[in-house]
Amino acid sequence: MQCLDDLFKWLRTEGGQVAVYDATNSTKDRRDEIRKRCGENGVEVIYVETLCTDQEQIAFNVRETKLFSPDYKNMSAEEAIQDFKKRIAQYEKAYETLEDDQLSYLKLINVGPERKIIINRPTVSIMARLASYAMNLHIQRRVIYLTRHGESEANRTGKIGLDTDLSADGVLYSAALATFLGKHLSRDADVKVWTSTMRRTIQTASRLSWDRVAWKALDEIDAGRCDGMSYEEIEQRMPEEFSMRKADKLTYRYPRGESYQDVMIRLEPILLEMERVTQPLVIVAHQAILRVLYGYLKDIPPTEVPNIEIPLHCVIELVPKTYGVEEQRHPLMIEPKLGSSPYS
Ligand code: F6P
Repeated sequence: MQCLDDLFKWLRTEGGQVAVYDATNSTKDRRDEIRKRCGENGVEVIYVETLCTDQEQIAFNVRETKLFSPDYKNMSAEEAIQDFKKRIAQYEKAYETLEDDQLSYLKLINVGPERKIIINRPTVSIMARLASYAMNLHIQRRVIYLTRHGESEANRTGKIGLDTDLSADGVLYSAALATFLGKHLSRDADVKVWTSTMRRTIQTASRLSWDRVAWKALDEIDAGRCDGMSYEEIEQRMPEEFSMRKADKLTYRYPRGESYQDVMIRLEPILLEMERVTQPLVIVAHQAILRVLYGYLKDIPPTEVPNIEIPLHCVIELVPKTYGVEEQRHPLMIEPKLGSSPYS
């Protein structure tokens, strides 16, 4: 209940909009108490219940996730499994499923192809988005490779945006990328490769042996009237715009262009699709786009996202786990010496 009070404080005074109250609210009484308190605080409630009836899936889940939980830090695997089974049995004794038709709730039953989702009373607008998000989630282990395109002609001349070809070094990177991924992933594997619709990402991925999909949503942040200018030119010719972006890179929107916040919203369908994919996934995109995808996967606060380090000519290998994401960075060639963004 103290935690719930913290949650109200965050929603009321610290700019919070949606809070997830993750606790064992497994009895009707407890849920009623939460609803009462939320009502008193002007907060709408959606209950989310997840059920798993597949014994094999439960065993897999305990092995793959619970054993790494901080609760079992100093226990052997066998002890932890036994303890978790006891824990489930205890919960089952007291457990009351959600079935009150008057409540807004989402019930997620099992994962994988046999999954069933029940949406009751979708009066709160966010429920549809939550349901489609939940529909895409899975707990299979998979790898995601993120890389920027190879150096482009625009990078070489220090200009932002544009839709130029790769430079000679950029072409070398596309070959290095094909060799690297060829060593890590089998040619016959069902690998998903996504690019933007821009020449530099399509050219970078052109040597890969798997099918590619070009997404418009993966195109680089639209710099609007600043597209094709260098940072120095923007500073000289549009000093006000330059200082506004420097002051708040997350919400600043280029004239007739986009902000990082706009890009985050544009990428929502990509994030959903990224969650759904179980196969190895290679995303060849752009600096701002990859900052957002990486920030989402690594749970980085939005204000820090526009300054995340995503160098050229480097593959970022990510394996999402229940508690965090495993990361390895593989620089394949020396990073070109480009002027770094003065906004960071
Ligand atoms: O400079 C390469 C680039 O991809 C530009 O096209 C884009 O405007 C920029 O990076 C995004 O980085 P920042 O938000 O730091 O300006």
